[in-house]
Amino acid sequence: MTMTIPAGMPQYDDMPTFDVDRVRADFPILGREVGGQPLIYLDSANTSQKPQQVIEAMAVHYALHNANVARSVHQLGTEATLAYEGAREKVARFINAPSADEIVFTKNATEAINLVAHSWGSSLKPGDEIVISEMEHHSNIVPWQLLCERTGATLKWFGLTETGRLDESDVDTLINERTKLVSITHTSNVLGTVNATARITDRVREVGALLMLDCSQTIPHKAFDVVDYDADFIVFTGHKMLGPTGIGVLWGRASLLEKMPPFLGGGSMIETVRMTGSTWAAPPARFEAGTPPIAQAVGLGAAIDYLNDIGMDAIAWHEKTLTSYALDALSTVDGVRIYGPKVPVGRGATLSFSVEGVHPHDVGQVLDSLGIQVRVGHHCARPIMDRYSVPALTRASFYLYNTTDEIDALVRGLDQVKRMFS
Ligand code: ALA
Repeated sequence: MTMTIPAGMPQYDDMPTFDVDRVRADFPILGREVGGQPLIYLDSANTSQKPQQVIEAMAVHYALHNANVARSVHQLGTEATLAYEGAREKVARFINAPSADEIVFTKNATEAINLVAHSWGSSLKPGDEIVISEMEHHSNIVPWQLLCERTGATLKWFGLTETGRLDESDVDTLINERTKLVSITHTSNVLGTVNATARITDRVREVGALLMLDCSQTIPHKAFDVVDYDADFIVFTGHKMLGPTGIGVLWGRASLLEKMPPFLGGGSMIETVRMTGSTWAAPPARFEAGTPPIAQAVGLGAAIDYLNDIGMDAIAWHEKTLTSYALDALSTVDGVRIYGPKVPVGRGATLSFSVEGVHPHDVGQVLDSLGIQVRVGHHCARPIMDRYSVPALTRASFYLYNTTDEIDALVRGLDQVKRMFS
């Protein structure tokens, strides 16, 4: 099935082509059933499904090339090291990083943020300020709270508008000469909001602070260029972009990484070790203590190959089509309220909503009985729930393998929820 552009959206001649049936055929899990119903997977903001190409790349690595990296002189060690470092090169090219040495592999995005908080943040002192937003996942809140407790620095944050955008009205006072780092999500995992960062970046540069972007919900969905965004650090995770769990990425400017002390100590991150003290390897090795996620890096490299093969612009266009369709479709269901931008501009393919009079856990259970997998709860972003005075929300999130038929099934499922609870 080739997706059509919904009525009302611009119809261009040179739209990227996208064959969703061809894509779906690459994902073995999409062929299974849940409770006797065809699987409808609408939880990719939580974790994406994996194409056969990624599964096979990891299986071939373990079957034929498995060895530890950066410490074995034998043939298998060389093959594994080349595969691991090759994956680093792929990641660097994917986000247009000036050098692969700026790519640090971590366990996930959470660990990448903690790495910066512990390493870069270790020199903070009372009076220094960190700025985040009310839109953050807990992983971009708690590490900064802990850092402020350790150092006496102060945590500040942007609020949110009624429509689910970042409230930048106080940008000039919030970001000031005391600010050392601004760390905000690029795309909200709850509201779907894609934050325009230009004004914040300008202010960060004016006061001489640093900018970190949590791109966990962006990098899987659209082409991203770290040079264009002019950030100092970005983080993202492999498992939301068709790759395996257990691998995340920190990109940092070389000039910053070079000055940062280690986060974790152990093998591979040292230059010399004596009983009286040690010196550190250059980045990225300085930040990759112990045996790293080797097979996971191979899987992430295969995921990047797959995404490049389909084309990030085609994926972004497909998701934009799905988002427009879903915003229209959900607005036809009485009692459904969407939290976050209600227009497809400046938002990603993640839609959170409430169903009047029905607890999200009940919504999730009824949908699950129909084979529809959505996430319910606070989505590891409790401040957003507080901001909009809701205990929890239901969230449907779309990716390159989803279809408008699946959105129709979601709408029918919500009608059923309402019939059951009215
Ligand atoms: N896994 C988290 C979510 O579902 C980030 O949004």
